[in-house]
Amino acid sequence: MTNILSLVELGKEGWERVLSESAAMKARFRAGIHDSFCQGRTLGMYFEKPSLRTRVSLESAMNSLGGSAICLEADSPGRFWARESVKDQARVMSRLVGAVAMRTFSHAVIEEFAREGSVPVINVLSDYSHPTQVIADFLTFREYRGDLRGRKLVYLGDGNNVARSLVAASALSGVRLVWSGPAGYRLEPSYIEMVREKLGGVDFAEEPDPRKAVAGADVVYTDVWASMGQEAEAGRREDAFKPYQVNAGLLAAAPPEAVVMHCLPAHRGAEITDEAMDGGQSAVYDQAENRMHVYRGIFSLLFR
Ligand code: CP
Ligand code: NVA
Repeated sequence: MTNILSLVELGKEGWERVLSESAAMKARFRAGIHDSFCQGRTLGMYFEKPSLRTRVSLESAMNSLGGSAICLEADSPGRFWARESVKDQARVMSRLVGAVAMRTFSHAVIEEFAREGSVPVINVLSDYSHPTQVIADFLTFREYRGDLRGRKLVYLGDGNNVARSLVAASALSGVRLVWSGPAGYRLEPSYIEMVREKLGGVDFAEEPDPRKAVAGADVVYTDVWASMGQEAEAGRREDAFKPYQVNAGLLAAAPPEAVVMHCLPAHRGAEITDEAMDGGQSAVYDQAENRMHVYRGIFSLLFR
């Protein structure tokens, strides 16, 4: 494994390796076993958007393995790349750090950085996808359900970065993914087709009625209605997405053992209610914890 740009590019073998290494590194962490194979290594991080989980998980993972991390932050889109070209930064950073994690507005920037640099590049959220989030989500899903083949994941809401990665992960795991949301916010049919072609099939369906969608669900997953950078559209989106809120009423239409997931941060009272977040079916904090274990797994594959 070199880069993690998208789950489709990671492919079946990379997917299985990263999941099993993350589970192994989590077990070592839980057993109090200290590894230090990142000693003398530095991770460079670009954050063009805010972060709690991702940034803290990356640093915490690196620290726990004896390495260190340096974070570059910008508060407006494109600020990093106005000062100096992506190409030059990729070449310079490749001389200075052992790997680079990037959260950007433009996915193309991450791809260019990976092409021009010579160290591994990890996409830690772009407008296109959020692969490391979804690796943690499926590690969580496995912990709850074991073998995932034939399981059903229902995603309610925006056909966004997280949703795209969930489609790819479902194809890689033999999971049926049902999307439920308003017509204007569907996942692009061309994306579904690309996943089908590249990964040899995907069990994907759309169900506009959220109560029908969650019938028989193993996982009921949602994300914010307006992603970072879409704040100006929040009002319009709220009206469109209201019927898709994950609440006690909707969960009553799902099996009682269905697991509630959200990548966080959540807007409590909007896409998900307090009772769904805090109830016994919620796995949201397990997902958050697994973000760190996944980065420890990734660093083990990159640096050990
Ligand atoms: N889920 C997630 O990526 O959270 P942060 O934006 O806080 O990193
Ligand atoms: N779709 C959300 C995910 C945040 C982790 C966003 O891009 O803001």
